[in-house]
Amino acid sequence: MNNGEVLLNVEKLEVVYHNISTAVQGVSLQVRQHQIVAALGVNGAGKTTTLRAISGFLGTDDAKVTEGKIEFMGNSIQNKPPHAISMKGVLLVPERDKLFENLTVEENLDVCTPLAGTKLSRKDLLERVYTYFPVLGNLKSRLGGYLSGGERQMLAISSAILCGPILLLIDELSLGLAPLVVEELLNLLKVIRDEQDVTILLVEQNAMAALEIAEYGYIMENGRIVFAGDPERLKSHQDIQEFYLGQGDRESRKSYRDVKQYRRSRRWYG
Ligand SMILES: Nc1ncnc2c1ncn2[C@@H]1O[C@H](COP(=O)(O)OP(=O)(O)OP(=O)(O)O)[C@@H](O)[C@H]1O
Ligand SMILES: [Mg+2]
Repeated sequence: MNNGEVLLNVEKLEVVYHNISTAVQGVSLQVRQHQIVAALGVNGAGKTTTLRAISGFLGTDDAKVTEGKIEFMGNSIQNKPPHAISMKGVLLVPERDKLFENLTVEENLDVCTPLAGTKLSRKDLLERVYTYFPVLGNLKSRLGGYLSGGERQMLAISSAILCGPILLLIDELSLGLAPLVVEELLNLLKVIRDEQDVTILLVEQNAMAALEIAEYGYIMENGRIVFAGDPERLKSHQDIQEFYLGQGDRESRKSYRDVKQYRRSRRWYG
């Protein structure tokens, strides 16, 4: 597949929990080969549910894709089990439970092995992991459960890299991390994308940080996509600046839709 071709195609996706609660409604998004794409939105927007639908990790929560399609490299992957999807090269770095707490850093990495077709050997991938995250080299014998938030995130990303992914899905890289650590990790993701030729779909509440490295962004709200565009367009859009990027009177408005309606009504009543 060539750079720029559609790698992941999600169309009109609907995901329902427990047969009654619709968490994602009509979400369409595309990720192109070698791109970094960000899906942004506040709590409960449906970001994690979308990533779980793509990666197949829905079953444990009694959730189903009830409408729409998910295609990876032109093949349908919706409602397939997680192992079948990860064997195709789609790897999820989840929001929570991202490592084995009772295993050491080295043992956590020992359980990961490259998928069939991965160009680099396990030895070479491991060497790269320790180059990207030298701190992990100094913590080889530390238990996963004792790692800091940033170290956990590094270990989770490293575990995914060791599988030789084609598409990396990362859920809330910035969660609980200091701004400088977030910046460092995001910049490293760009390096990893280039050196490992991996495509990245990043889910983030921290819109500003994610838009620093993403080449395209989707804004989600209440299970829907409410806006999409390249980072410059998103950052310069006044409504988005007000609601997502912390500029303007955020407290007084409940949602991006409210901001839009507020603007329309002002325009209407002049
Ligand atoms: N196991 C579940 N059972 C029922 N509803 C769920 C379940 N998990 C999530 N939901 C609901 O689905 C909706 C979307 O949740 P989701 O976790 O996808 O949002 P999110 O955008 O990832 O939010 P956050 O930024 O807080 O992680 C929410 O209304 C949530 O309450
Ligand atoms: Mg989430």
